[in-house]
Amino acid sequence: MFKGVILAGGLGTRLYPLTKVTSKHLLPVGNEPMIYHSVKRLTTAGITDILIVTNPEYVADFVSALGSGKEFGCEFTYRVQEEAKGIAHALALAEGFAAGGRIVVLLGDNIFETSIRQAVKDFQAQQGGARVLLKQVSDPERYGVATLNGERIVAIEEKPEHPKSDYAVVGAYFYDATVFDVIRTVEPSARGEYEITAVNNVYIQRDELEYSLVHGKWVDAGTFESLTEAHQILLDSTD
Ligand code: DAU
Repeated sequence: MFKGVILAGGLGTRLYPLTKVTSKHLLPVGNEPMIYHSVKRLTTAGITDILIVTNPEYVADFVSALGSGKEFGCEFTYRVQEEAKGIAHALALAEGFAAGGRIVVLLGDNIFETSIRQAVKDFQAQQGGARVLLKQVSDPERYGVATLNGERIVAIEEKPEHPKSDYAVVGAYFYDATVFDVIRTVEPSARGEYEITAVNNVYIQRDELEYSLVHGKWVDAGTFESLTEAHQILLDSTD
């Protein structure tokens, strides 16, 4: 089975002062710290070897909250991202952990109403390359936005002012081992970050990017409003 990576670094500035003394990913959502959700989404999809990437300030708190993984039926490895230079920059820290295998990557602030099991199976069925998950949303300008042509994604734009579709690329990514070579070719964006969208666009150029649609609700819990929504989704979720 694939290894899993949960990216839980970053600054969480949009949730200040909730994030004054702790990480966004340790805030309560539903009945648990947010990061429990990502862990369970991986373990219930059969992924039990999990790397947690966090920032230096809160790594000890993550270890206190999650421990070895015994409680969750999995095994955790921890890595520290010294500076919040973007999602692709955080993912680069997973190269040794991945050890040449394929990986499933979750952004620690993404909340899913339903299991990612089917997407994992779809990725298992593909030869190589990468897979992303898409969800139709009413506010695509907040996200990476996919332009579709039939069954193919032809481009992804990061937070476009004028989105070409309403398909958000959500924070669950499936990569083959070449992703680390791809990351090395990426230049920082205008906002100074190594963007995961730039990585995904390389897979599009190679015609190696597949997608699945997210079933059920999905939320990026990075703002006060969406955090409230995330809370409700998890209190109601039965999957
Ligand atoms: O939620 C989905 C969206 O996530 C995608 O549609 C976008 O394409 C993608 O860029 C990302 O956008 P955000 O602006 O919401 O990303 P944010 O900076 O909030 O970071 C998302 C997660 O990634 C966060 O939970 C922590 C982790 N992260 C982020 C950065 C910038 C890191 O681990 N290290 C980092 O340096």
